Amino acid sequence: VAAFSIGRQQFVLLSAPDDIRDLLVTRGRDVRKGIGLERARLLLGNGLLTSEGEFHLRQRRLAQPAFHRERIAGYARIMHEYAARTASTWRDGETVDLSRAVTALTLAIAGKTLFDADVTGDTVAIGAALSDGLRVFRLASLPFGDRLIRLPLPGVLRFHRARATLDTIVYRLIAEQRTRREDRGDLLSMLLLAQDTAGDGTGMTDEQLRDEVLTLLLAGHETTANGVTWALWLLAQNPEAQERLLSELHAFGTDGPGAEHVEQLPFTRAVFAEALRLYPPAWIIGRRAAVPYTVGGRTLAAGTLLLASQWVVHRDPRWWPEAERFRPERWLDTAAAGARPRFAYFPFGAGTRVCIGEQFAWMEGVLLLAALATRWRFTIATGAPVAPRPRITLRPAGPVRVVVRATTPH
Ligand code: HEM
Repeated sequence: VAAFSIGRQQFVLLSAPDDIRDLLVTRGRDVRKGIGLERARLLLGNGLLTSEGEFHLRQRRLAQPAFHRERIAGYARIMHEYAARTASTWRDGETVDLSRAVTALTLAIAGKTLFDADVTGDTVAIGAALSDGLRVFRLASLPFGDRLIRLPLPGVLRFHRARATLDTIVYRLIAEQRTRREDRGDLLSMLLLAQDTAGDGTGMTDEQLRDEVLTLLLAGHETTANGVTWALWLLAQNPEAQERLLSELHAFGTDGPGAEHVEQLPFTRAVFAEALRLYPPAWIIGRRAAVPYTVGGRTLAAGTLLLASQWVVHRDPRWWPEAERFRPERWLDTAAAGARPRFAYFPFGAGTRVCIGEQFAWMEGVLLLAALATRWRFTIATGAPVAPRPRITLRPAGPVRVVVRATTPH
C-alpha cells in the first residue's frame, strides 16, 4: 500500500492481489468510481461506464442479454469475416500501421455486432473525433482543469466539435434503427425497446440512449484494438512465438481456422492473454472511498482515491517470473496459473463493475489474431520505436509500423 497526495487529494495505490479483490469485489459497495471516469462523463454522459448505483444496475440488466454466451457466438462469424477482409487488403512487403488498421477493424465490428450498422464509412471521422475528444482529459487533469475546460481554448473547441461529430453519428444510428421498428435482438434494438415501453416514465430518454450507444461504441472497440495491436507488435519482436502461433493456425489448413474453431486455439489465446498482461489496455482502475476504508492496517478517510494498476501488478516479479518478457507459453502452464493469486491479473476488472464485454473481447482478440497471423508474418519496420501512452486506455504513442510478409504464396 503506497499513499501519496496531489494538492489536497489523498491517493492510495494498492498492489497486493487480496487488497485489489477487496476493492473491486468484497467491498464494492463501499466505493464509487474514481476521478478518471468522472471526467469521462464530459464525453460519455451517464452511460454504463460512468453511471452509479441503482441506475447503473438497471442499465446493466438491460444491456446484459446482448452479451450472453450464445449471442457472442453469433458475433464470431462477423469478427472472423471482417478480419479476413482486412488481411486480404495487405500486400506482400507492405508497411502497415497496425494501430490504425486494427482500430478501424474493431470499430467496424462493434458497429455491426452491437448496432447492426455499417460504420465503415465513418471510421476515420469517429477515430479523429475520439482522439480530439480524449485529448481534453489532459487539460481537465491540470490544476484548475475544471475551470480551464470552460474557456474557449483551442483544445476545448476541438472537444466540442468532436462531441458534435460523435453525436451526429450516434443519433443517426439510433434513427436508422428506429425506422426499421423490429426487435432483431441486437443491443440497440433491445435498448430502443426499453425506451419504447417508457409509458411509466422509467424508460430511456433519447439522451440516455445516446450515452449508452456512445459508451459501447467507444469502450467496445478502442480497448480491444489496443490489445490486438500490442499483441501483433510483441509477435513482431518474437519470431519464435510467431512460428509457434503459425503452426497452430496452419494446422487448420493454409486458410487457417474459422470462427467455429475459436475454442481450439490455446496458443493464440495465450498470445492475447500475454499481451493484455504486458500492455493492459485498461492500465489503472480508480475508486473513491464512500466510507472510511481500512486497508493494510490503516483507516483512510472517506473521499480517499484508491487505485489498482494492472500495469504495476501484471509486471510484479512475485507473481510473474521473467515479468518483463513476452512469454505466451506461461499461460499453458496450468500449475503455475493455479499457484498465482487470482488478482495478480485483472485486465477486465472484477465485481459489479467488471467489463461487460469481457467474453466479447476474448472472442474478438483470438479471432483477429488468428485471421491476421494466418496470412501474414510481421516484422518491425526500421526506425520505429513504439512507447505506450497512458491515457484512458494504454494506447501506442504513435503509429505502430510493421512490414507484412505472406506466410504462404497466394
Ligand atoms: C481487451 C479489451 C477490453 C479491456 C481490457 C476492457 C477493460 C475493462 C475494464 C478494466 C473495465 C472496468 C473498469 C472499472 O472497473 O473501473 C471495463 C468496463 C467496461 N467495459 Fe470493457 N474492456 C475491453 C473490451 C470491452 C468491450 C469489447 C466492450 C463492449 C462491447 C466493453 C464495454 C465495457 C463497459 C460497458 C464497461 C462498464 C461496465 C460497468 O461498469 O457496468 N469493454 N472494461
